[in-house]
Amino acid sequence: MFDQKFSTIVLTLFPEMFPGPLGHSLAGTALKKGLWNLKTLQIRDYATDKHKTVDDTPYGGGSGMVMRPDILDTAITDAKSQMPDAQLIYFTPRGAPLTQKLVQDLSQKNLILLCGRFEGVDERVLEIHKPLEISIGDYVLSGGEIAAFVLLDACVRLLPGVMGSKDSLSEESFSENNDFAGLLEYPHYTKPPIWNGNAVPDVLLSGNHANIKKWRLLQSENLTKALRPDLWARRKRE
Ligand code: ADE
Repeated sequence: MFDQKFSTIVLTLFPEMFPGPLGHSLAGTALKKGLWNLKTLQIRDYATDKHKTVDDTPYGGGSGMVMRPDILDTAITDAKSQMPDAQLIYFTPRGAPLTQKLVQDLSQKNLILLCGRFEGVDERVLEIHKPLEISIGDYVLSGGEIAAFVLLDACVRLLPGVMGSKDSLSEESFSENNDFAGLLEYPHYTKPPIWNGNAVPDVLLSGNHANIKKWRLLQSENLTKALRPDLWARRKRE
């Protein structure tokens, strides 16, 4: 089991964005408790000219600016020297889609997260440092910082001691190794038992846990078939 603290270094031009949303709720409490570490490094601090330039115009023309490889190389090398065992990640729309399986894997490592801005980063620095390239979806963000929040939030909630109940992790959408693997989550209900003329499904009040589980599995299957046929097809194959 994972017993080393989850430590992360974020390379960014906007360190003041952090911890941001990760300073609140579950991740924030875990951060205050010391269940994980977050450090930011300002990429601009590695610039060498008096204007602290980190980007330049693209060779071959075109719009936007590209982050310089020499500055990024110094920044990445410094981060690696601070955490030599870490996995380097670069956020980009061309990266591997972020999935719960990848989140599970990465939550057991230490991470250096490179957040790009502008049009991207000079390809040569990627060739040298070979980061794991990750996308959080088929759309274009203005930078990697929001993607870093997404990845860190998803990782931190899996860390030991962060979530109250292990059960709430094991039956949720995309969790593995149980009847609910690869399915969307079943619907949830709480008090009052009748609200706005609508009653909570009887089975949930029955106290019969086997029936409740059967009902929830059916709901999960039906929701997945209806809303995410792609996930349903994958589940059938696996
Ligand atoms: N940077 C810009 N767009 C992104 C995306 N969709 N995923 C990850 N990083 C990005």
